[in-house]
Amino acid sequence: MSLDIVVFGHILNPISDKKCEYFKNGAMHLKFSKSKDAYQIKQLGTKRKVLQGLKGEFQEIDYSEQVIIPSFFDMHFHWVQDDVREMPKANLLKWLDNYTFPAEMKFKNKAYSKKRAKDFFKRLVSVGTLGGACYSSIHGHTLENAMDEVTGDFVIGNVLMTMNSPQQLTQTKTEALSLVSKYSKKYKQKYALTPRFAIATDPETMKESVKIAKKNKSFIQSHLSETPNEIEFVTGLYKEIKGFEKIKTYTEIYKKVGMLGPRTIMGHGIHLKPSEIKMLKETDTAIAHCPTSNAPIKEKGLGSGLFDFKKIERNKIRWALGSDIGGGPILSMFDVIRSFVDQNKKAEVKGATHIMGLYRSSLAGAKLLNLDKTMGNLSVGKEANFLVLPKLRNLDDLSAETVLSSYINHGRKRRKNYDKMVDKVFYKGKLLHTPA
Ligand code: GUN
Ligand code: FE
Repeated sequence: MSLDIVVFGHILNPISDKKCEYFKNGAMHLKFSKSKDAYQIKQLGTKRKVLQGLKGEFQEIDYSEQVIIPSFFDMHFHWVQDDVREMPKANLLKWLDNYTFPAEMKFKNKAYSKKRAKDFFKRLVSVGTLGGACYSSIHGHTLENAMDEVTGDFVIGNVLMTMNSPQQLTQTKTEALSLVSKYSKKYKQKYALTPRFAIATDPETMKESVKIAKKNKSFIQSHLSETPNEIEFVTGLYKEIKGFEKIKTYTEIYKKVGMLGPRTIMGHGIHLKPSEIKMLKETDTAIAHCPTSNAPIKEKGLGSGLFDFKKIERNKIRWALGSDIGGGPILSMFDVIRSFVDQNKKAEVKGATHIMGLYRSSLAGAKLLNLDKTMGNLSVGKEANFLVLPKLRNLDDLSAETVLSSYINHGRKRRKNYDKMVDKVFYKGKLLHTPA
């Protein structure tokens, strides 16, 4: 029998864009579920109330002076781009050619890939990310390495590249499809069919692979409308391809090959025409918004532009946040939240709060993966996946928004500090990570 656990701390529980519960001097009662091999949250509230409802023996874990938040979901990142996060960025297509493709080529070596996977996924836990959607390179073993080394609840895919790519990263259609067939069958709903983007994946491969993914209930992810020169290039390209002569937009290409739908997550979607928004809405396709990647070049982003989250909200398109490592330079979702809030503030767009940033980095991500019934925040009944943050001074009488902004401001001087912002990581109620 595993003893029940009671965790004490100041607890933040994101509920929606506008609502985040805050239990100052709070507690969580965790109970072990044998069938799930996980501790689940039995009660959440103030310390006094939770203790009142407790009977029998239990173990106490005391983080009384610290803040507890749910673990993060990062809904768009490339685990094989760890080395290019801080490489010079002029624009997307140049950065891909000059730095990203050469970095991904190196993963052809199996020993190298395994070693890098062990290192990367360990660091991912240490920044508190325990869920999300991840891109590997074209190589089958980089997908397997990621699946083997990852801790948490992720969908992962190998990128498909069959055209307009460097020779060492170009697959035949047959190679691409046989990888999809093998891994979609093997990993089912943990697999994400991942045509890199319509520039690099031919339409026939996209169309055929979608059929395989749908049969196995796998997810689908790709890049959409990240930069204007990418859009110009892709629409020009497809006008020369038989069957696509009449396409007017980038989104239309994906629609035509069957890629849009409720299990599809498109990265970026910054520069969308009204007709494209309509297509995304009608197909219930989701968007992963990656503010640190889209940020100006002087902020180490690709300068792709500002995502109009209000327009996406108005159209009821589901969306969540992602780091887009290595388009974004920092692994921690704290930095992604910071950038989301800062960029909107600077552009005088109202409503982009830290609460919203936290919600879009946790529960909203879990929702895109249909995992929100069992994870994504700290509500009763969910698995105990949470982060303990270091003690900060003066947490008395603050709101959820000010507590969160204190942490964000604390790391602001040096963005890399966000990667060290998490003191303890619990997954399914078990302690995974304590910094050295
Ligand atoms: N579009 C196609 N490939 C990529 C990539 O690796 N990163 C980003 N940010 N955009 C892309
Ligand atoms: Fe990306």
